[in-house]
Amino acid sequence: MTRPKRLALLGATGSIGRQVCEIVQRYPERFALHAMVAGRDRAALRDLAAAHPSAHTRLATPGDGDPEAAAAAIDELVRDPEVDLVVVAIAGSAALRPTLAALEAGKDVALATKEVLVMAGDLVRQRMQRHHSRLLPIDSEHSAIWQCLWGEQRASVRRLILTGSGGPFLRRPLETLSAATVDEALQHPRWKMGPKITVDSATMMNKGLEMIEAHYLFDVGYPDIEVVIHPEAVVHSMVEFVDGSVKAQLGVPDMRLPIAVALAYPDRIPDIVPPPDLTAIKALTFEPVDPQRFPALALARTAAQHGSVATAVLNAANEEAVAAFLRGRLGFTRIVATVQEAVAREPRSVAEDLEAILGADRRARQFVRKVSGADSDILERRLPA
Ligand SMILES: NC(=O)c1ccc[n+]([C@@H]2O[C@H](COP(=O)([O-])OP(=O)(O)OC[C@H]3O[C@@H](n4cnc5c(N)ncnc54)[C@H](OP(=O)(O)O)[C@@H]3O)[C@@H](O)[C@H]2O)c1
Repeated sequence: MTRPKRLALLGATGSIGRQVCEIVQRYPERFALHAMVAGRDRAALRDLAAAHPSAHTRLATPGDGDPEAAAAAIDELVRDPEVDLVVVAIAGSAALRPTLAALEAGKDVALATKEVLVMAGDLVRQRMQRHHSRLLPIDSEHSAIWQCLWGEQRASVRRLILTGSGGPFLRRPLETLSAATVDEALQHPRWKMGPKITVDSATMMNKGLEMIEAHYLFDVGYPDIEVVIHPEAVVHSMVEFVDGSVKAQLGVPDMRLPIAVALAYPDRIPDIVPPPDLTAIKALTFEPVDPQRFPALALARTAAQHGSVATAVLNAANEEAVAAFLRGRLGFTRIVATVQEAVAREPRSVAEDLEAILGADRRARQFVRKVSGADSDILERRLPA
């Protein structure tokens, strides 16, 4: 019998990270945790380490140490020759550096963090080609497309169709959207996820980020990536082929399924989740996206057309605007409006290297922090009581 696949899990204490830990515990003959990384939640990481005593653990923001030394130690963990698969589930742009380190070491990366591709899709693709490493998608929509593409030729693909549930505000009267509260935005009707992606689902920026993610994962042009609303969240996405066939992947809305598909690839693990009961669901419905309700999608398309500086700005400005909303600093509809202002400030250009991306990221964050008053938060914290 072959030995278990050894995983380095980044973002172990988060929503995706914990579900990865659960699968590892359920299938010890298939998987072992070799390393676990979290952001700052030392207590949660300690609890996880107790359940996986052989795993090395690291905090990315240890509070008392040098952040550069912590980042370098994480790079070392993902490059470890003992590691077979790196699972990236850190929320947001902090995932970029360790993802690039893993790909440069020739590792396969199971990627949940779409922000990595939105921020630096071209660089990620370069690293994969140069070092013969692979990305295995965890995001449910991209897992669905990936599964529909197994055994197909690239030339046979006409369009990708991403589905989205529409989130908590699909039917809310438009004129009340600006008053939407944090609690309301965090009530996703179908999926239980971390706070950032849940707010992205309410604005539908999540689908905009996923469109860019799909472009880089599957090498399909933006005009050939469509988004439709599918409130039941059973069809996780579709691929249309040149002959008029459409393939879809169906499943209950449970992230353990796409996680297991990525971890076990090319195998399938029996009984990860029950199959959907289609006679109980009765109807699967689809509708076009209302651009007035969800302006984030058109904004993401514009940024994608403007090039990689604009997509890096889109990502960074969105992270900051969502953080400001969660802290009560920005109204719900101001999230996308602020990101739009940040994108409009940047010239259209392609980022030649990582430095150009990080520069665009910094400018966007500074702009949103200024607009949302987060700069004064920092100032207040620095002032003596
Ligand atoms: N949740 C889902 O169902 C779902 C579905 C599809 C895609 N995704 C994507 O998966 C990613 C993770 O989402 P999530 O919902 O699991 O997020 P989450 O619950 O907020 O968890 C985030 C994880 O990232 C860690 N982290 C935060 N900042 C970090 C840093 N600077 N360095 C290292 N680790 C850091 C956190 O550690 P601490 O807790 O210690 O701070 C935590 O382990 C996101 O990009 C999201 O878009 C999620």
